[in-house]
Amino acid sequence: MINSIRGFNDILPPETYIWQHIEKEAREIFETYGFSEIRVPLVERTGLFSRSIGETTDIVEKEMYTFLDKGGESITLRPEGTAPVVRAYIEHKLYASDPVAKLYYLGPMFRYERPQKGRFRQFYQIGAEAFGIDDPMIDAETLEMLVSLFQRLKLEGVTLNINSLGCKECRPLYKEKLINFLKDKKPSLCQDCQRRFEINPLRALDCKSKTCIELTSLAPSLLDSICEGCKTHFEKVKEHLSLYKIDFHLNPRMVRGLDYYVRTTFEITAEGLGSQNAVAAGGRYDGLVKDIGGPDVPGFGFAIGMERLVMLVKGQRQEAEGMGQGLVFMAMLGEKAEKAAIPLMKTLRSNGIRLERDYGSKSIRSQMRRADKLGAKIVLILGDDELASHSITVKDMESGEQEKVPFEKVEEKIRALLTERQKVMSKQ
Ligand code: HAM
Repeated sequence: MINSIRGFNDILPPETYIWQHIEKEAREIFETYGFSEIRVPLVERTGLFSRSIGETTDIVEKEMYTFLDKGGESITLRPEGTAPVVRAYIEHKLYASDPVAKLYYLGPMFRYERPQKGRFRQFYQIGAEAFGIDDPMIDAETLEMLVSLFQRLKLEGVTLNINSLGCKECRPLYKEKLINFLKDKKPSLCQDCQRRFEINPLRALDCKSKTCIELTSLAPSLLDSICEGCKTHFEKVKEHLSLYKIDFHLNPRMVRGLDYYVRTTFEITAEGLGSQNAVAAGGRYDGLVKDIGGPDVPGFGFAIGMERLVMLVKGQRQEAEGMGQGLVFMAMLGEKAEKAAIPLMKTLRSNGIRLERDYGSKSIRSQMRRADKLGAKIVLILGDDELASHSITVKDMESGEQEKVPFEKVEEKIRALLTERQKVMSKQ
């Protein structure tokens, strides 16, 4: 027996129905905000990630799946989606006709992290990137889009944490301040924070180690140190979030693990996820398009961790969309009935009705048991009686009621029962 690789998961039915449901809602909502889908490869040149995410980040230093291909080129399984989307934006000159491009993507990402609850080596993200808009309104509007998705999914107990990381002008000044503050404390910082002390001392601010938390508790505040331009930008973001009636928590110590962020950054955390509690995260990355060889176009985006979102939806939805959702089961008694049912099954399926059956001419009891197991909502029974009267018995599995319906009226009856059920479900 060959097992799957640690940190790589199979996603099985009925859970796949939850995935499909989330993906459908996300696509629908993102399209209404003017985003279109982009599909980029799973593999890119290694340099794309080291240049964009940052040489000294955990992702680039420790977590990338990097290989030499047969031509000797260093390639990497994408650890995130922003860099490949930026690469595609530049490569296809999407900015040429209009610098504004709003793109979203869905798919697997790969990071060699230590697997635990909510953390995997292959995980899926749904992400969105808005290029070409300096205006802080896009930061707030994109966050509103994300929050709407979570509301549509009826998520509870989620918190939006926001911060501003300043820009390429003011952050280096803050960095100096922080280095001065931490200099004599450096030997007591955790190993990771010591190692990245000169290059990225800000990471010490949101380090989880107890000593680092204590040592940085009186550190100068980043939000007090950002320049006027960054302050005005951040004020506008907050103002627009309030206009959208979105609650947020200001977290001046939140520093993200990717180097490309400037100004607005955020994380959405959720109760019930354990220590890996960020279900989505993102921010502004003005300067990244230019750094990767494109024009100086600003960007703002986010990515949702699908597995974590599925965990929340599973825990919070009253009735997950399961395999039985809208399922009709065709029970047939005898060879004659099996043959007579064929045109009807074909019509129902081609008209979009989910229909399942059993094989091998089983008894009615055994077929009913199978229908029950699959969670079928309606069972159609075709036996000698029905054949003689050119009709079918339609059984509503929920109420137990059944009715003989002429062949031509079966579809109508099924649709009426399914609509009724839908109404009951949406009232719940
Ligand atoms: P990130 O914070 O690295 O940002 O990842 C975003 C989300 O992906 C996390 O909040 C988490 O839900 C999920 N995630 C990350 N790593 C794992 C893992 N090992 N297992 C399961 N879920 C995980 C980015 O990736 C940025 N590209 C987001 C962004 C888009 N910023 C701007 N645009």
